[in-house]
Formats: sequence, structure tokens, C-alpha cells
Amino acid sequence: MSSGDRAAAALLSWYVDMGVDEALATAPLNRFQGDPPPSGPAGGEAAGHGVIGPAVPAATLDELRSAVDNFHGCALRTDANRTVFADGNPEAGLMLIGEAPGREEDRVGLPFVGAAGKLLDQMLAAIGRDRTSAYITNVVFWRPLNNRTPTDEEMAACLPFVQTHVALVRPRAILVLGAAAARVLLGTRLGISKLRGQWQEISVADLPPVPVLPTFHPAFLLRQPARKADAWEDLRRLKRRLDTA
Ligand code: URA
Repeated sequence: MSSGDRAAAALLSWYVDMGVDEALATAPLNRFQGDPPPSGPAGGEAAGHGVIGPAVPAATLDELRSAVDNFHGCALRTDANRTVFADGNPEAGLMLIGEAPGREEDRVGLPFVGAAGKLLDQMLAAIGRDRTSAYITNVVFWRPLNNRTPTDEEMAACLPFVQTHVALVRPRAILVLGAAAARVLLGTRLGISKLRGQWQEISVADLPPVPVLPTFHPAFLLRQPARKADAWEDLRRLKRRLDTA
């Protein structure tokens, strides 16, 4: 069996485990193409996903981590050295969701440990938090080669795990870092400059909606330090919400 055949067999077996027992079409349908989803919390253009998933049966974070470890349905893992699941304190009430592991994260197996991670630590410090009082993950668990942005398909493959992650952590607020993560989590095509600083919501399973604040990705802020003022403003907004929640 070639490695492609093995990956296809593993994906089929994962579908069966997840309860997929029916094919709806003979050709794949890219649901990211075409019109954006209907109106939602961001003034009609940035739609939340509504009530979704979680589709991954995991009752604890350990079970979810092992489900991710055993998932072969995202092509990114083929070239990655490590699965990067999460870091920080899941009880903290604050969940940060970034884009994808980079070189350092792929080497260490933890999110945001490279240059962007150092800035993220400073951003957390600005609101009196650190990795003992925040929980950090990404929308994909494996490093895209050359640090490219993960494709919509790669993010969609990981989305059920991310949704289950949110359902298990049950944060009081989520800070979404960057355009790609906002796109997949909120089901929007709006750019991050429009989205940033505007509270949104996502709903997972039958839990109350979770407030979500998109902001600039720290890697972007390293390239565009002039936008840090906007990010600090978003962080203050986040802190106000956490302090009053
Ligand atoms: N950028 C991200 O989005 N996530 C990481 O874990 C590291 C850099």
C-alpha cells in the first residue's frame, strides 16, 4: 500500500468511527467557495457558525488530545514533526486561538513559543495574565511547510476538534488571533481589519454562546508595529469583559 492509500484508508476509518455512513455526492463539494454564509453577529457580513458540533466524541481534554493524535484526515501532519495541541491553563476562563504552529512550535510541541509567542506573552502581560491564566491553541495542530497560511480545507478538517476543544474548556471569552483563525471559527470572509475589536459569538453543541473577540495576529504585529495600538485597545476591551463577566 502506498502512503497515499494508507492516508485514505485512515481517513475512511476515521469517518466510520465518527459515524459517517452515507455518501451525499460522488464529487467533493468545497463549501468554502461561493457566497459567504448568511448574516450573523457582525452586522450582516461576518456570520457566526450558529449551533455547531462538537462532532468529536471526547469527554476530557486528554481524550481530545489523543483523538487529535490519532487523526490522519489533515494533510498537514504528513510533513510535521510534532502535534501541537495546547498550552496554558484550561480553567483560566480565557482561550486564545491562533492560526498554526511554526518552526519552533513544531520542534517543541507547544503553541506560540517562537518570536510571535514572545509578543503574545507581552500582550497577555498587558492584561495581567500569563500562561497560568490563559489557555492557548490553534485552528490547526500541525505546522504548514514554510509557515504558509493553512488552507480552508486544512482548517475545516481540524474544525470539529477545535469546536470540541471550546466545548470542553468552556471559556468565558475567546481571543482569536488573525484573519485565518477568524475566518474558520466565525465562518466569515471579512478581513481582520474589519473584524478586530468587534465582539462576536460562537455556539458549540448546546452550550451558551461564547463571546469571541478577533484581533491582529502577533506575527502581523511584529511586521506592522504601528497596528499594536489597535491590538492594545482590543486587549483592554477583552479585559473589561473578563473583569465584569
Ligand atoms: N503562530 C500561530 O498562529 N500559532 C502558533 O502556535 C505559533 C505562531
